[in-house]
Amino acid sequence: MIKIAPSILSADFAHLADEIRDIDQAGADYVHIDAMDGHFVPNLTIGPMIVKAIRPLTELTLDVHLMLSNPDLYIANFAEAGADIISVHVEACPHLHRTIQLIKEKGVKAGVVLNPATPVSSVLPILHEVDLVLQMSVNPGFGGQTFISSTLRNIKELADYRRTHYLNYEIEVDGGVNASTAVECVEAGATVLVAGSAVFGEKDRTQAIESIRPTLRK
Ligand code: DX5
Ligand code: ZN
Repeated sequence: MIKIAPSILSADFAHLADEIRDIDQAGADYVHIDAMDGHFVPNLTIGPMIVKAIRPLTELTLDVHLMLSNPDLYIANFAEAGADIISVHVEACPHLHRTIQLIKEKGVKAGVVLNPATPVSSVLPILHEVDLVLQMSVNPGFGGQTFISSTLRNIKELADYRRTHYLNYEIEVDGGVNASTAVECVEAGATVLVAGSAVFGEKDRTQAIESIRPTLRK
């Protein structure tokens, strides 16, 4: 079953608790939380305080995507706030093994993220250590951008590597995912689909989630 991870970046922040409960009831699998530092990406968003406030509202997996220049400094805070998965950008981590280790030592699942222009070869040395690989299909920073189709090749490469090396990391896609791009992502090998505007931009979240969740699987 393909997992759907609504990104709260597109939620109504004045009613965040209601928004979280709504996607929970609508059949979401993860709550995708985008932390941005105004340095690695040109936007400022969510810190550990918000993760802590969300934690008691749902039992869904809190999937934290760190878009920070120095994620090592904040991993403990996000873990203690209740994150279930913490993902870091390979482009921001000169000592990637150490950073992934730091996440795991906190008892949290570890993910590595690739920007659209980053080659899969840059994460090969870490793939046997991670629980999840997040392939960005837009340049990170904002919701509502257009899906970059060339990233489908990376998804295929990640899926091939997973199969040939008997690994089982999730392959998550983030950016511009909607009912039509979701199909190509899943055909390429994605197992988790992040969707911000395609879920929170719709009134009926159950329908939005079901329309994104493709039935086919490779
Ligand atoms: C972008 C974020 C995404 C964003 C996706 O930097 O990482 O999670 O919220 O939004 P949509 O689905 O609207 O492209
Ligand atoms: Zn994200």
